[in-house]
Amino acid sequence: MAKEKLIIFDTTMRDGEQSPGAAMTKDEKIRIARQLERMRVDVIEAGFPASSDGDYEAVRAVASVIKDSTVCGLARANEKDVRRCGEAVGSARSPRVHTFIATSPIHMEKKLRMEPSQVIEQAVRAVKWAREYTGNVEFSPEDAGRSDIDFLCRILEQVIKAGATTINVPDTVGYTLPDHFGPLIRRLRERIPNSDRAVWSVHCHNDLGLAVANSLAAVLNGARQVECTVNGLGERAGNASLEEIVMAVRTRQDVFPCDTGIDATQIVPASKLVSGITGYPVQPNKAIVGANAFAHESGIHQDGVLKHRETYEIMSAQSVGWNANRLTLGKLSGRNAFKNRLHELGIELGSEEALNAAFKRFKDLADKKREIFDEDLQALISEQASDYVENEHYRLVSLTAHSESGESPYAKVVVSEDGKERRAEARGSGPVDASFKAIDSIVKSGSELLLYSVNAITTGTDAQGEVTVRLSKGGRIVNGQGADTDIVVASAKAYINALNKLHSKLERINPQV
Ligand code: KIV
Ligand code: ZN
Repeated sequence: MAKEKLIIFDTTMRDGEQSPGAAMTKDEKIRIARQLERMRVDVIEAGFPASSDGDYEAVRAVASVIKDSTVCGLARANEKDVRRCGEAVGSARSPRVHTFIATSPIHMEKKLRMEPSQVIEQAVRAVKWAREYTGNVEFSPEDAGRSDIDFLCRILEQVIKAGATTINVPDTVGYTLPDHFGPLIRRLRERIPNSDRAVWSVHCHNDLGLAVANSLAAVLNGARQVECTVNGLGERAGNASLEEIVMAVRTRQDVFPCDTGIDATQIVPASKLVSGITGYPVQPNKAIVGANAFAHESGIHQDGVLKHRETYEIMSAQSVGWNANRLTLGKLSGRNAFKNRLHELGIELGSEEALNAAFKRFKDLADKKREIFDEDLQALISEQASDYVENEHYRLVSLTAHSESGESPYAKVVVSEDGKERRAEARGSGPVDASFKAIDSIVKSGSELLLYSVNAITTGTDAQGEVTVRLSKGGRIVNGQGADTDIVVASAKAYINALNKLHSKLERINPQV
C-alpha cells in the first residue's frame, strides 16, 4: 500500500533567522531557498514580512523565484501583518500565509493581556484576512505545549471553520515530552469535529533536546507536516533538525506510516550552505551532517565496516550527500565552466559585472589553492555578496601580520572608512588578536566579541578557513563571516563584515516578542 506523504516545512529562514546574529540578506535567502527547492522541501517559510522592509523584499524575491515548493510567510494575528504577508507571498506559484497567536494562560495573560474569548476572535479574523490572499492558510496556537487542551479544541475548531487548511501545534518553549506531545496531537484530532478538514502539523523547539523525538511522536499520532530547520537552527536551543526528521522517517520505514519527498543527497550541501551563510558551525558529532557522523574511529568498527558496511552504519554517507560535492574547478577552468557550475548550484549573479568580479575572485583563489570545491564557490559568493552590501562602510584594504616564536605578534592594517584609507598597527597575543586590535583602534566600535570560530571549508592544509565573528552592541547581535586560505586574513574580513553589519543599523523585530 502506498505510504502517506509527510510534508516537510522548512523554517530555517524564519525561525532559524531568529537565532542571534543569523539575519540573512535577500540574496542569501534566495540561495538557501533554491537549495531547499532542490532538496524538494514542500513548504519554505521565507520570513516574517512585517519585521522590516528588507524581510518583506526578501520574502517577495523568494516567492518570485521558487517554482516547485510552496512559499510561506509568517504573520502575527493582526490585519497589518497578515496583509503585508499576503502581499509578500502573493506572486508565488503556490503561496501560503501562516498566522499565529498565543494560547497558553501565561502568554494570554502576561504577554497579550487578552481574554481567551478575544484571542479566539482575533485568530478567526486573522485567518479570514489571510484567506483574501490565498486558499492555503496555516494557523498556529503559540505555546500550545503549555495550553489547556479544552481551549485548544475551541480555538482550533473555529479557525478551521474560518478557513485554516493547516493546523500547526507548536511546542514553543520545548517543554513537552514525547509521551505527552504525541497523544496531545491524537486527542486534538479526535476531539475537534472538523479536524479532518486540516493537515496537522507540529513545530517543536529543542530546549530539552527533545524537538526531534517530540515531532516523531506526533507523526506516529497523525501529524502529517513537520516544521524543522537545516542543522536544527532556531530560537534558543533551536528547532527540530530537518536532516534528523527526514532520515529517521526514511530509515525506520518499518515504524512510520508515511515518508517525505526529500532528496536526501541534498542534505549535506544544504547544511554547509546554511552554516556558511549564518555563521553557525555544525558540531562534529551532530547526527547526519556532523563531520564525524560517518567516521569510524575505533579499529573494531573499521574492520566491521570494511567487511560489511551495515555492521555499523544504518545509512550510507552518500545517501545524505557526503562526497556529493565533487571537485568542481581548477586553475585552468574558464569563465563558462565557472558560470555553469554556479548555475548548477542555483547561484545567479544577476549582472555581467558581478559575474566578472566573481570570476576574478575565483582565479585569485585558484592561484592559492589547486582544487576548488562547491563549498569554496559558495564561500566566495557569500564574500562577494557581503562586499556588495549597500552600506559597506569599512573595507579591509590590506593586512600584514607577523608572528615568530619568542616574539610578540603584531599586525598592520589599512582599512578604508567611507572611502578614506586609515592605517594602524597593534600587538596582540597572536596575529588574529593583533589584527583585531589594530582594526578596532581605527573603528572604535565599542562592541563586545561574543564568539570567534574558525572552520576549514574543505579538507587539506590548503583549505580555506571560514571564520565567524559574533559581536554585540547595545542589545544588537550580529555575525560576520570571512573566508581565505590565510586564516588571519579570513578573521580580519569576518571582523570587518560584522562591524559593517553593526554600522548598518538594520533592525528587525521578532514576531514573538
Ligand atoms: O515557536 C513557535 O511557537 C513559533 C510560532 C510562530 C509557530 O515559531
Ligand atoms: Zn518557533
